[in-house]
Amino acid sequence: AGEKGTATERSFVMIKPDGVSRQLVGKIISRFEERGYKLVAIKSLTPSPALAKEHYSDLSARPFYGGLVKYITSGTPVVAMVWEGKDVIKQGRRIVGATNPLDAHPGSIRGQYSVSVGRNLIHASDAFDSATKEIGLWFAPEELSEYEVGQISKPV
Ligand code: TYD
Repeated sequence: AGEKGTATERSFVMIKPDGVSRQLVGKIISRFEERGYKLVAIKSLTPSPALAKEHYSDLSARPFYGGLVKYITSGTPVVAMVWEGKDVIKQGRRIVGATNPLDAHPGSIRGQYSVSVGRNLIHASDAFDSATKEIGLWFAPEELSEYEVGQISKPV
């Protein structure tokens, strides 16, 4: 997940099927772009059950696990992304907001757009180790781009 605590730190962020079906993809991406984070990978897909189960493997004993996997794999796609920048893992969690929208700050994505924990729109890695695992699970190394942001006025 890049290098921890540096400008190359990376987080795995996924817009879940409810975010796609509610047509909030652009607004959600804007939150990260406007904060100054760099999009280094993005794709839309319906994950396989194996991928969804592995992504949420830490929660396999929880009562909502089956329903969560079923929802993520339902056929409405997710938008999987990797965002890069200073403290993007911790800041990404703040931008996303608390798991339960009832606890999410109104300025966060979940706090602004969602009311139900089972339909809380978006996932963001919660720590460096999980970010590393998730990026490796969802993306091949060649799907991650290295480029400079903010170079639009540079003569070519
Ligand atoms: P979790 O990893 O605890 O939260 P977060 O997404 O904030 O990292 O849970 C993963 C997802 O599981 C959560 O986003 C929504 C779902 N979930 C439920 O459906 N019911 C619950 O009670 C919890 C805790 C999570």
